[in-house]
Amino acid sequence: MKILVINGPNLNMLGIREPDIYGKSTYKDLTDMIEAYCEEKNVEVKCYQSNHEGALVDEIQSAYGTKDGIVINPGAYTHTSVALLDALKAVGIPAVEVHISKVDEREDFRQISYIRNYCEKTITGLGFDGYIKAIEYLIERDGKNDSGN
Ligand code: DQA
Repeated sequence: MKILVINGPNLNMLGIREPDIYGKSTYKDLTDMIEAYCEEKNVEVKCYQSNHEGALVDEIQSAYGTKDGIVINPGAYTHTSVALLDALKAVGIPAVEVHISKVDEREDFRQISYIRNYCEKTITGLGFDGYIKAIEYLIERDGKNDSGN
């Protein structure tokens, strides 16, 4: 199984940006944790981060026919980007939306998520563990499909 984990703008600043909200661990800590988990589960994973909306669209498109699942935290583009929603719809790969913080308890402008219209599941407020939960979901889903259930 092949999974793509996408992080959007400012998530490269984890550990520095608003540690009271996002914690003190870095983006490298996050990718190390994801890679270790995936290795244990025999899943091939690519972690990708960009601050640019078009680059995120390109990365989603590149998953077409090559990945079995997408985990995506689009950062602030969650609340603004129809382009990311359309890219996910275009490739048709099962996807899970992840947010480190409890977005639903934050500002009004964070209450809209365009990609949520496509994603099978949304995980918020679990910190880095949310990414693991999302990968777990995709692995389980993939297993069910393989056995024809
Ligand atoms: C975030 C929440 C977004 O509102 C914010 O713009 C981010 C991070 C989260 O992981 O909690 O950059 O997606």
